[in-house]
Parts: sequence; structure tokens; C-alpha cells
Amino acid sequence: MPKILLADSLNKKEKNLEKVKNNVVLGDSLDVMKRLPSRSFDLIVTSPPYNLKNSTGNGMKDGRGGKWESAALQNGYQQHSDDMPYDEYCKWQRKCLRQMLRLIKDDGAVFYNHKWRVQGGLLQDRQEIVKNLPVRQIIIWRRKGGINFNSGYFLPTFEVIYMLTKSHFKLEKGANKYGDVWDIMQEMNNPHPAPFPLELIERIISSTNAQTILDPFAGSGTTAIAAMNNNRNFVCIDNSPVYCEMALKRINGDNWNGR
Ligand SMILES: C[S@@+](CC[C@H](N)C(=O)[O-])C[C@H]1O[C@@H](n2cnc3c(N)ncnc32)[C@H](O)[C@@H]1O
Repeated sequence: MPKILLADSLNKKEKNLEKVKNNVVLGDSLDVMKRLPSRSFDLIVTSPPYNLKNSTGNGMKDGRGGKWESAALQNGYQQHSDDMPYDEYCKWQRKCLRQMLRLIKDDGAVFYNHKWRVQGGLLQDRQEIVKNLPVRQIIIWRRKGGINFNSGYFLPTFEVIYMLTKSHFKLEKGANKYGDVWDIMQEMNNPHPAPFPLELIERIISSTNAQTILDPFAGSGTTAIAAMNNNRNFVCIDNSPVYCEMALKRINGDNWNGR
């Protein structure tokens, strides 16, 4: 039966994934990843905090939601304020990505979801995070749906997914037909402030033959549900006890929308 494990219950260096496989680990993702063995995952799918509250303009920094009045993330995450100094944030995310690359096998891949935005008149395209890392492709996820509360801006409708790969990574036969612009409705029925739509993660997972999949910023556990639906194994990490409980309930089939 899947359970929540505390990060401190893991050894400093786990020899294999047996303890964590198909479980949710409550702890800091960098700390937990450092405890896991190299080349132990086939695939990593994740969406980190975007640092949206660290904003040069009237984004979400003043606690009122700024230009997006009803933004779910105006108070940050349960255990993470989403408001780090920009350089510190980029360094942290680079460290996380380096760990993810260490953790995947030679035919593995990391699907890293992020958002581009304009800050101080310039495009913040997350180059500082991914530069010199093995980005093979950038997928545009066009999130259908959403409501615009501000007449000064067109409704933002896209995010990106960086596909970082080791040299032997290959898609499943026929998966390349999806192209690199994916129209997938955003998730509207999930109490987590920034959930993945299940369809997005199912598409990624079913496009590979990955058997064991990690999400180091797992939130409500959408990656785990997509893995289970495709008969694959998962490991979830999140530093919020509330979101870990949410994920566990969902994994155990007891949740808000029956998935
Ligand atoms: C964009 S959300 C992921 C949501 C997830 N994809 C889902 O479908 O619910 C980012 C998650 O990162 C978690 N987080 C933030 N800082 C963290 C840290 N240092 N270690 C582990 N998790 C962290 C937050 O609690 C949040 O749930």
C-alpha cells in the first residue's frame, strides 16, 4: 500500500529504489534526490515552483494577485513562498536539474515544465536555468481554458516543457505524431494551486517506455496517477505535508474527482 515517507527515514545514500518506489516522500526535493542512486529512473516529469511572486512589475508580488486578481498562487504554496531572489532561484533550479540528470538512465529523459514571462521589459525565458544542459526539444503546451481578469493583457495561454535527454533516449513508435505544440485543457478540478492536467502527463508517459518515473515537485500527485494508469512505477516528492496527503489520497483512489 503506498505511503508517505519522511525524507529523514531514508539513508544518506540509498542503494536502490525499493524503499521509495510507489510511495510519496515528504521532504525537500534536492535533499531527497541526493539520497537516491544514480541512473535509477527512466523518466522524470515535473513542474517546479515558477517563482511567480518574485516580480519586477505588478505581477503577484503585493499579495493581492496583481494583474491576475484571482490567481490561485497569490499566497504561494503551503511550504514555499514562491518569492526567491531571481539569481538564487535560478541556481536552485539548476542544482535540481543536475540532480535529475544524474538520476536518469542513459536512455532517460526529463520533462521540465516552466513558464516564460516578461520581466523588466525582457523575456525571462529560463535560459539561466537550462543553459548548457542537454535540452533536445521545447514543447509548447497551449493551455486551453482560463479566464482573464485584466483588460490590460491578452489571456496568457501557453507554457513550455523542456525535454532534456540522455543520448540514448527514444520516443515510443508513433509518439512523434503529437508534434511540438500540444493543445491540452488546463486542470480545473483540483484543489492544489498549480496542478498538471492528467492528460498532459499521460501523453508524456505513454510516449515513452519508461517503467519508473520520478516527480520531485509532485504536488497533488498527478504524475503518480498518470504512471499508475499506464502500469508504470512512480516516486513522488513534495515538501508540503498537505499536498503529500492530497497525493496519497488520490493514489489510494479516494479523491475529489474519482481519478
Ligand atoms: C507547480 S507545483 C506541482 C504541482 C503538480 N504538478 C500537480 O499536478 O499537483 C510545485 C510543487 O513544488 C512543491 N515544492 C516547492 N518547493 C519544494 C521543495 N524545496 N522541495 C519539494 N517540493 C517543493 C510545492 O509544494 C508544489 O506542490
